[in-house]
Amino acid sequence: MDSETAATTHEILERLNGLRELDPPTHGGRVLSYVYDPGIAGLDELITGATTAFLPVNGLDPTTFGSVAVLERDIIAFARQLTNGDEDVVGSVTSGGTESCLLAVKSAREVWRAAHGEAGAPTLVAPTTAHAAFHKGCEYFGLTMSAVDVDPETGTVPAGALLARVDDLIAAGNPPALVVLSAPNYPIGTIDDVETIAPAMAERGIPVHVDACVGGFVLPFYPQEPPAWDFRVRGVRSISLDAHKYGYAPKGASVVLYRGREHHQAQYFACVEWPGYPVVNPTMLGSRSATALAAAWAVINRLGIAGYRNAVERIAGATDHLTRTLVGLPGLRIVGEPFGPLIAVTSEPGPDAVDPFNFIDALKDRGFLAQAQPAFGNLPRSAHLTLTPVTADVIDDLTAAITAAAEAVRGKPAPRGNLGIVKQIAAQGLPEDLAEVMATLEALPPEVAPGALVQVLAGLIDPEGALP
Ligand SMILES: Cc1ncc(COP(=O)(O)O)c(C=O)c1O
Repeated sequence: MDSETAATTHEILERLNGLRELDPPTHGGRVLSYVYDPGIAGLDELITGATTAFLPVNGLDPTTFGSVAVLERDIIAFARQLTNGDEDVVGSVTSGGTESCLLAVKSAREVWRAAHGEAGAPTLVAPTTAHAAFHKGCEYFGLTMSAVDVDPETGTVPAGALLARVDDLIAAGNPPALVVLSAPNYPIGTIDDVETIAPAMAERGIPVHVDACVGGFVLPFYPQEPPAWDFRVRGVRSISLDAHKYGYAPKGASVVLYRGREHHQAQYFACVEWPGYPVVNPTMLGSRSATALAAAWAVINRLGIAGYRNAVERIAGATDHLTRTLVGLPGLRIVGEPFGPLIAVTSEPGPDAVDPFNFIDALKDRGFLAQAQPAFGNLPRSAHLTLTPVTADVIDDLTAAITAAAEAVRGKPAPRGNLGIVKQIAAQGLPEDLAEVMATLEALPPEVAPGALVQVLAGLIDPEGALP
């Protein structure tokens, strides 16, 4: 980009559209993570219209921009309906799942501090499968993460193990500020035992957050009843659910709900200790775009309950089909007992083993992108697959590609860590096939891996770097 001379609108848009060619396709079901495509005709036009209408609005101040409060209230009411919340349930629209999770942690910390004093460092207890956003929340808000291993067979945390962890903390005089459960978790798609754990926490006075960032817009519509996960369960204090995942809104919209207005208000930041306007921020940002809010509102109104139900029917059909294919493939197995719509596969040890990282590279050669997940705790390395309604449109291609990819790498040795690859990345960037890179990352000690990742990612946006 030459910043000395102004470019024309045509040139700018041409450049932007050209850059989009660097990306994998965001529609059509070929990318099995990050994007959630309902395959509904006209939805992009609706989103463009809603976004355009709200481009100049500042979501910072609903007392000035009354439209923002109306949209937000409507989305919260819809989310409350999905989670079976009563009139005691309120919340906020946030910029995404991470922000919703961060705010639930902040609220829990404020409530804990009010009871136990400002000075303490409270603990957050969660299964290892809880999203990394909760580690981030602990880092940002000064909590200590206490992660409990899941049972590698079922993929869910044994309720007794989690209760024992909490009871140990209570006995040590440091009751946790929050217990986090997932419905479902991202890595392997299993739903935690909310029904047993949340009421047990209520008896101990410990709040439970259910992270339904993935499940909130799908679990209410499954043909088979999911395990209990919402506000009907005693002890569930807060829930996060993402409009920009299975709500099919563009990125930038999630909801965090609380049972109890005081718990919602504990997430706010308000400040009058400066000479400017009184600041009241419900979420992490100050000025905020209202475009994602308007787009989410538009998509929710366009789909309605019937649209979401129909989308889930398509996902559930594709999941059944895919599961049957995976179960029939030697050398691969599904991790735990996922409910859907997320599945992780790993290798079945033996001469026919299909290493998941090799499998992901082979699947990419056949036009589908799965996500590599390094081994952690007692869970093996795996390939993550997010299924969306359009997966149903490409299910035959997908199962054929999966079968062929597994065949291509069956019995091929699993890649191991190779520190030489770090030098290679520094000199030449990331290679096409990532199996060895992921294996190297997996082998790095946890105190080294984050720094290495940050260096690679920061390099991507470094003006001194070489990019197209
Ligand atoms: C269960 C769960 N929680 C939280 C998040 C974080 O959401 P986001 O990426 O929108 O910040 C994700 C993202 O995949 C998720 O799957």
